[in-house]
Amino acid sequence: MQRTLVLIKPDAVQRRLIGKIISRFEEKGFEIIGLKLMVISEELARKNYSVHKGKSFYEKLIKFIISGPVVVMVLRGKNVIDVTRKMMGYTAGHEAIPGTIRGDLAMSERFNLIHGSDSAESAEREIKLFFGKKGLIEQRQTDLKWIYDMSGDDIT
Ligand code: RTP
Ligand code: MG
Repeated sequence: MQRTLVLIKPDAVQRRLIGKIISRFEEKGFEIIGLKLMVISEELARKNYSVHKGKSFYEKLIKFIISGPVVVMVLRGKNVIDVTRKMMGYTAGHEAIPGTIRGDLAMSERFNLIHGSDSAESAEREIKLFFGKKGLIEQRQTDLKWIYDMSGDDIT
């Protein structure tokens, strides 16, 4: 099963949307295998968003992401990286399609509530940055056999 890193950004925490956002991923069927509330240091923010270094919005993005507490979460499930990105919606809230998290709850290009890893490589890099090698739950949730058909060799 694949893993991804999700950040519930400072705007979502201040707007009291933590529960609503986490619920969407729980209801979809993903396992939460890591979860914490923290204020990101500037150093960590710069590492996490290093791909955007030099872009016009980079400094403002760093300032925003360290401006208040965030929730950091690791989700596990089938195709979780791609599904999470689809559930988040397009980057700009005003462009995101209704039904997505940003489409339903955001307007801004920058204050867009949530971050999700965009590839397997970034997921593993980001999980390591925020949780190190330990700190993730290994135990499986017991309802997975009702979320997927696990009766055969493959999980479908
Ligand atoms: P994220 O990395 O946060 O999951 O979001 P994303 O993939 O949808 O968007 P990305 O292009 O990676 O941009 C990273 C974050 O930078 C802020 N941003 N501001 N024009 C702007 O002012 C601008 N463009 C992007 C957003 O917070 C975006 O999520
Ligand atoms: Mg991105």
